[in-house]
Amino acid sequence: MNDMRLDKMLVTLGIGSRTQVQKLIRDRRVTVNGQAVIDPSTHVSGDDRILLDNDFLDCRTERHVMMNKPAGVLTAAQDRKQKTIIDLLPPVYKACGCMPVGRLDKDTEGLLLLTTDGQLAHKLLMPRKAIWKVYRADVDGPLSAADVNAFKQGVELSDFKALPADMTVISADKLQSTALISVCEGKFHQVKRMFLARGRKVLQLKRVAFGPLILDGSLAPGGFRELESFEYRALVSAAAGEGDD
Ligand code: URA
Repeated sequence: MNDMRLDKMLVTLGIGSRTQVQKLIRDRRVTVNGQAVIDPSTHVSGDDRILLDNDFLDCRTERHVMMNKPAGVLTAAQDRKQKTIIDLLPPVYKACGCMPVGRLDKDTEGLLLLTTDGQLAHKLLMPRKAIWKVYRADVDGPLSAADVNAFKQGVELSDFKALPADMTVISADKLQSTALISVCEGKFHQVKRMFLARGRKVLQLKRVAFGPLILDGSLAPGGFRELESFEYRALVSAAAGEGDD
């Protein structure tokens, strides 16, 4: 988190309104690096050790979050009319500049990574890093071995040929089928367009993995949690592999 006024930091952390936190500060209930600070306009940063009534306040500047994006929410930092994924997080994540890595369509659910590490995000999105993304798709008709093979060969779309993708059919029926699809590129409406090219409409799409990161099954739609350190390290090594920076 960038430098900011102490009262604003406490509001951002959800401690209370501007008036409430100013009272806490004036009542000497807040210390910064061991000193009581009574001026609410004092500037602090994520490196300062801030305590409220001796309770440590977590002002970390680096945040890495896994979200189970619900359908109906935009993958954007802000929007004047529609709800965005940033609106689903406590204000502290916005304050420290946590941003989505890539995007999911408004009606797509599932794993969305957000991070304050812009360099990591940039690398994970580089086409030559070819990070695999796994989606579960429900489509409006049967899926056959010919479809699996077409995905494996790379589906021809109007403006480009998709890279080879893996498809595992989970259930196939005349009216509706379900499959897991692994793709290593992330063009606009990629998975939906690949199915359309095979005459199938995607009814529901959920991302279940992003590189080494697997969607935590305990997260309800709209739920999120910070990454475990092994998950973050796995992403860093995925971003470091294959291709120069
Ligand atoms: N492919 C799509 O068509 N939509 C998404 O949201 C992600 C991948």
